[in-house]
Amino acid sequence: MNASNGLGDFEETSNVGIKSFFDSSPPLKDAAEIKKKTEEFMQKNSFSEKTRRIVLVTSGGTTVPLEQRCVRYIDNFSSGHRGATSAEYFLRAGYAVVFLYREGTYQPFCRSLPNNPLLECLEVTKESNITVRPPYDQTVKKAISNSHVAISCGTLLKLSFTTIFEYLQNLQLIASSMSSLGSRALFYLAAAVSDFYVPWESMAVHKIQSSSGPLDMRLAQVPKMLLVLRRDWAPKAFCISFKLETDKEILLKKAGAALEKYNMNMVIANELLTRKEEVIVVTKAGNIVVQRDRTRADADVEEPLINLIVDEHSAACKSLE
Ligand code: PMT
Repeated sequence: MNASNGLGDFEETSNVGIKSFFDSSPPLKDAAEIKKKTEEFMQKNSFSEKTRRIVLVTSGGTTVPLEQRCVRYIDNFSSGHRGATSAEYFLRAGYAVVFLYREGTYQPFCRSLPNNPLLECLEVTKESNITVRPPYDQTVKKAISNSHVAISCGTLLKLSFTTIFEYLQNLQLIASSMSSLGSRALFYLAAAVSDFYVPWESMAVHKIQSSSGPLDMRLAQVPKMLLVLRRDWAPKAFCISFKLETDKEILLKKAGAALEKYNMNMVIANELLTRKEEVIVVTKAGNIVVQRDRTRADADVEEPLINLIVDEHSAACKSLE
């Protein structure tokens, strides 16, 4: 089943709605382990020789299960390309990155690898050794070394989610760990988050039977977490949300409305078809169009975008010193 479920309008969010969403969600597996890893990561990057700024990059789309023993789910189009690419540029800019990604989507440093890297990149030699076949050898070496450097230096922490329940519980947990960083924390919320879901307690336990005839299902609204993130979880952080639309006319209106309503520092507006070419950064001071360098075939729109964000975040940190 494939429906665009993460891209709708914003709605009123109340503390009651948020509390009842979390209270009724199935508990996050490994929550204690995730909390420990996140806190160690914050500690390491706050008190090492170089105190770093830390960004949470969310990436990919959340699923909405239709059954507790899930056979079917609602999904959306997000590939995680934006998040993975952005994470690379944040690392280059000296940030420590928590990369919260949808299982199975793009990963930092692996974007240029083929879909089936093991089978397409590797070959067995006459001596039964495994080697990387040209022309992938350089790309693979670069991907492995960049990723290993980031992970072994402790500047990249990867955490995964699949469902809307896992995503929002992870977001809350990570945001609470990041609140102690004050203005050094940056939230870059590129994930396509489901707007509608089936509450756990009203969800069928077993596979829904097609023999019962056409399916009527009422989906509840997922509470928007941006307000509570800004107000309660990490009030001093620099917060960037995204807005995706297919109609340019309404895109900027909605991005502007989200900026005001959720008190974001920036909203990145993008259109579905041109999202890899151009984005519009909506701020209280005005809109900035950011385009990829079209003179370079391999240029990413995220390169100038992250440069701009780093400058704005630096200015915000300085103004609060
Ligand atoms: O992954 P790619 O294929 O590269 O595509 C990238 C992208 C188009 C998905 C990305 O650039 C993007 O625009 N992501 C946001 C998509 C969107 O419009 O989501 P939304 O309108 O449902 O949410 C807007 C913001 O509110 C998001 O920052 C989201 O994190 C946040 N949100 C959404 C729902 C919810 N219940 N709580 C939230 O906080």
